[in-house]
Amino acid sequence: MFDIEIKDISKSFDKGTIKALQDISLTVKKGELFGLIGSDGAGKTTLFRILTTLLLADKGTAKVLGFDVIKDYRKIRSSVGYMPGKFSLYPDLSVEENLNFFATIFNTTVKQNYNLIKNIYVQLEPFKNRKAGALSGGMKQKLALCCALINHPKILFLDEPTTGVDTVSRKEFWEMLKELKKEGITIFVSTPYMDEANLCERIALIQKGEILTIDTPKKIEESYPKPLFEIKSSEMIRLLDELKTIPEIDSVFSFGEFHHISFAENKNIHKEIEILKQKLSSLNFEDIEIHEIKASIEDSFIELMNKQQRNEY
Ligand SMILES: Nc1ncnc2c1ncn2[C@@H]1O[C@H](COP(=O)(O)OP(=O)(O)O)[C@@H](O)[C@H]1O
Ligand SMILES: [Mg+2]
Repeated sequence: MFDIEIKDISKSFDKGTIKALQDISLTVKKGELFGLIGSDGAGKTTLFRILTTLLLADKGTAKVLGFDVIKDYRKIRSSVGYMPGKFSLYPDLSVEENLNFFATIFNTTVKQNYNLIKNIYVQLEPFKNRKAGALSGGMKQKLALCCALINHPKILFLDEPTTGVDTVSRKEFWEMLKELKKEGITIFVSTPYMDEANLCERIALIQKGEILTIDTPKKIEESYPKPLFEIKSSEMIRLLDELKTIPEIDSVFSFGEFHHISFAENKNIHKEIEILKQKLSSLNFEDIEIHEIKASIEDSFIELMNKQQRNEY
């Protein structure tokens, strides 16, 4: 039923001064596309390394495909695919040589698993003699994915596969993941990009080694706790600075062509808005527009992160 079961995992570095993971618990179902979303330093890679048996946790237990990460590490290593965040290929070997090399490590051949990688590999084939180090970011990422798939894994661990990759390649990459999911492969993927959260079936938001929430993207959006507004006027930068100084405003951040704001007091929200509009007019802002909106996943995340920072969490 569960392909990943993590219970109370903690890990610290530098004699306990850096708490990379604190009491992490989560489960990933068989065949699920699960996203671990968090910014730099959140603890994503540490968790990936524990699950792929490359690092020992200080406490807690973790099982991958029913195998214990300590006792059964050999079984895990042979049945998972892992694409580490940092460039994992041999830059001096060609595309084809890299692929053959990874196949050999797993005691298999490229031919044996070609069906699984075919759709991805055809895009690489024109460059098969090129050294991996000379490929574009998007192409490197495709080759790394092929290498991670070469042992026909039941579960794929992809640590920030789209970091530093252009927008088009990022989109293509998520399309590839959807296809792999159809093959029944469980996918555990990390990303710092909040817009990619919506492409996962369920997500965990991780910040400073703690999980802030685990749910479907839709449920997380729906759980945003208060009315939310977008606001626009002349002088957007001055507006942002000004909004930050207004005590009635609880949160404010820039979001595309609007700023998003919520209020500390939501009982008489229409009155709050009128007062705000008057205040901004008196500060010489022009063309003020303000409307209530539905929270996006990013709004929900920012709210949860602010809550953690205020230690309400
Ligand atoms: N080998 C290590 N030695 C010391 N600190 C580490 C080590 N690995 C990770 N850390 C620290 O642990 C925290 C989490 O790091 P990491 O898991 O790499 O986060 P992420 O992958 O989300 O960016 C960071 O503060 C990082 O500096
Ligand atoms: Mg990382």
